[in-house]
Amino acid sequence: MPSPRRLIAGNWKMNGLRSDATTRAAALRDKAGAARMALPDIVLCPPFTLLTTVAQTIGSTLALGAQDCHAADKGAHTGDIAAPMLAEIGCRYVIVGHSERRAAHGENDPQVRAKAEAAHRAGLVAIICVGESANERKAGRHLTVVAGQLDGSLPAGVNAANTVIAYEPVWAIGTGQTPMPSDIAEMHAYVRKRLSDALPKDDEGERIRLLYGGSANSGNAPELVATPGVDGLLVGGASLDAEAFWKMVLAAV
Ligand code: 13P
Repeated sequence: MPSPRRLIAGNWKMNGLRSDATTRAAALRDKAGAARMALPDIVLCPPFTLLTTVAQTIGSTLALGAQDCHAADKGAHTGDIAAPMLAEIGCRYVIVGHSERRAAHGENDPQVRAKAEAAHRAGLVAIICVGESANERKAGRHLTVVAGQLDGSLPAGVNAANTVIAYEPVWAIGTGQTPMPSDIAEMHAYVRKRLSDALPKDDEGERIRLLYGGSANSGNAPELVATPGVDGLLVGGASLDAEAFWKMVLAAV
């Protein structure tokens, strides 16, 4: 089975005003345009307010993603954004179930699943996030916890074209700590096995891309992307620096 095409996604989280977003997106667009080699898929996930600005800046060289969507396609949900709205303004991806949303907004697996379904209905690729807490890892429950999240949040109809899984251990996000490569490899092999068992038809489970996220930066990216089972990275803080993020893209070439 050939390895899936790699994917490097930048989750800008709640950062950026129009001027710095435009500068960053334009720098990445220019670097991608000037590249002489085949690049991995590159996805920028700015805050909602900057999606249109970034869409206009990057053109078709890079892909646009949002950081969340509502499970419903429309309706009385003040402050929320629906997946068809994202698709209309040029998004191709949407992150769902990020641990910061699970923690700060109480999102649970059924809600994440409903959001992924909404993303699929709108023709978006859902980047579904899973990952254990520090205590869960200390207790040796990391595999069980992630298995539960996968079982609970993967919608019917998931396939390699409409879904990406991001393994983001909560304790590694924004902390400067990353798991040992062997721990990442163990988790990715475990997730891969579950996906392959659940989706044997046309090897869909083999081809779904598995990203690692959590304190990935330009220094550790080469080792992270070389870790067995890692098909790319979901980058937070380091994606706010165009130079650093570009180095991470190059590490995945
Ligand atoms: P950091 O790269 O800042 O640790 O964040 C990772 C993350 O949460 C990406 O979604």
